[in-house]
Order: sequence, then structure tokens, then C-alpha cells
Amino acid sequence: MITAALDLDRVPSHVACVMDGNGRWAQSRGLPRTEGHRAGEEALFDVVDGALDIGVEWLTVYAFSTENWRRPPDEVRFLLEFNEDILLRRRDDLHERGVRIRFVGRRDRRVPKKLIQLMDDAVELTRRNRRMTFTIAFNYGGRAEIVDAVRAVVNSGISADRITERTIACRLYDPEMPEPDLMIRTSGECRTSNFLLWELAYSELYFTDTAWPDFRRVDLYEAIRVYQERERRFGQVSPNGASSAITFNGDGKRRDHPG
Ligand code: FPP
Repeated sequence: MITAALDLDRVPSHVACVMDGNGRWAQSRGLPRTEGHRAGEEALFDVVDGALDIGVEWLTVYAFSTENWRRPPDEVRFLLEFNEDILLRRRDDLHERGVRIRFVGRRDRRVPKKLIQLMDDAVELTRRNRRMTFTIAFNYGGRAEIVDAVRAVVNSGISADRITERTIACRLYDPEMPEPDLMIRTSGECRTSNFLLWELAYSELYFTDTAWPDFRRVDLYEAIRVYQERERRFGQVSPNGASSAITFNGDGKRRDHPG
């Protein structure tokens, strides 16, 4: 049994994924990049199934970034239509399985009206579901999200000295969304690339060389197994005495990390 190595009582409540490597996966096979995105759909829904089976409550995926508009127009068009198509084909099945669909990201005029309508329909259809919340980050950028939250704070008229982290956090795109416990990025790149900048502050990060189209639920379970071996200290000292991580400043002096 694949899950044998997992402690099912300590499954991360929220897993976030950067589904990277679709283009390279396709190019390495002599295929157009768009074929990589198509292959990524199978990976995504195997991961959704795998997450449902072990009780992950929140799954968030990076489907289209604010930077993705800079891709060749054909690929942008493909990605927009592909997202529409996936929503149409998958929403009823997700609904039947108790999945609540949500979106985070900017709704600017570059996002086609038809896609916005489909997003709203999927959110409305599934809003009472509670088995898992599947959040799709679309036209999403972490910095843009913080900028939008700051704008909302300024518009609220709150005085500067009363601003706390909570003031910002409750104005993010989905204030109900808990911070991810685990962020997975595929395809060998070890960075967050503007994904959930605020929310990932204390998340465990897991990077794998596997390209997204080859990623399956077993790979999700392996990431969770590694996660379960980590100790999350949230800036504190662990009960068994381990202190904070230690690094050095540029001047060679020791600097204690917050954890
Ligand atoms: C990154 O690979 C992947 C994307 C930009 C899109 C991924 C989207 C999907 C799999 C569809 C998701 C849709 C819904 C509705 C959830 P890349 O093109 O950056 O790969 P590369 O780094 O190899 O170029």
C-alpha cells in the first residue's frame, strides 16, 4: 500500500503545488509545449484523487500566473481555453466528490468574460461542499495579491499605527484559506516564483526533479512522507531542545534565523 509510510493522522491540511515543467516535458519529446499542459491535466487530477483519498482538506494549484501573459500569444490563448475546457469537463465530477472549487487571482480585463463566468459557476455549484477545497490560482501573483490587500487597507481608512499582520491577511484574495503546510514544486526549480508569497512564510517547501506531467499521487505521498519527517518550529525552539537554524551574515557574523 502506497500510503503505508504515511502517518494518516498527520496529513498536511493544506498542500499547494507549482505545476512546473510542462513545456520542457513536451519539448524533450519533440512535442509542442501545449502538449505538456495537456499531459499536466492527468497529473493534476491524479493528485486531486490522491489528496482526497488521504484527507487533504485544501489543495491549491498555480494554473496561470500574472507573468504568464508574457508567453507567446498562442500559448496564452491555449492556456486560457484549456482552463475553460478543464472547468467544463471536471466541475461536475469534482462537485459529486464533495470538492469546493475556489479561485485566487486578479480579475482584470485580460481574463475572458466567458472564463470568469465559468469560474463563478463552478464556485457557485460547489460552494457548500466541504470534503476538500480545491483552489485554482489564476492570473495570480503573490506580489499583486499583497498590493491589492494594501490598497484595500488604505481604502478602509484604517490608521497606520493600527495595521497588523491580521489587517493584511484578512484582505488577501481568500481570507478563509489557511496557510499551506506544504508547498510542492516540480521540475527541478527551487524557488517560489511569486506563488502565495504571504501565505508560504512558514510552509515546508518540497522540490522534486519530476516534471509535472509525470507527477502522480505516489509522488504526492512521497512529498508528504518527507514533510512528516520535518520539524515545524514556527520560529520557536523545539521541545527536544533543537535551537533555531543558524546562518551567517555577509560580514561573517552569526545570525540566528527565526526558525
Ligand atoms: C507550468 O509549466 C505550467 C503552467 C503554466 C500551466 C499548468 C496548468 C495546468 C496543468 C492546467 C490547470 C488547470 C486548471 C483549471 C486547474 P511551464 O510551461 O512553465 O513549463 P516549463 O517550465 O517547462 O516551461
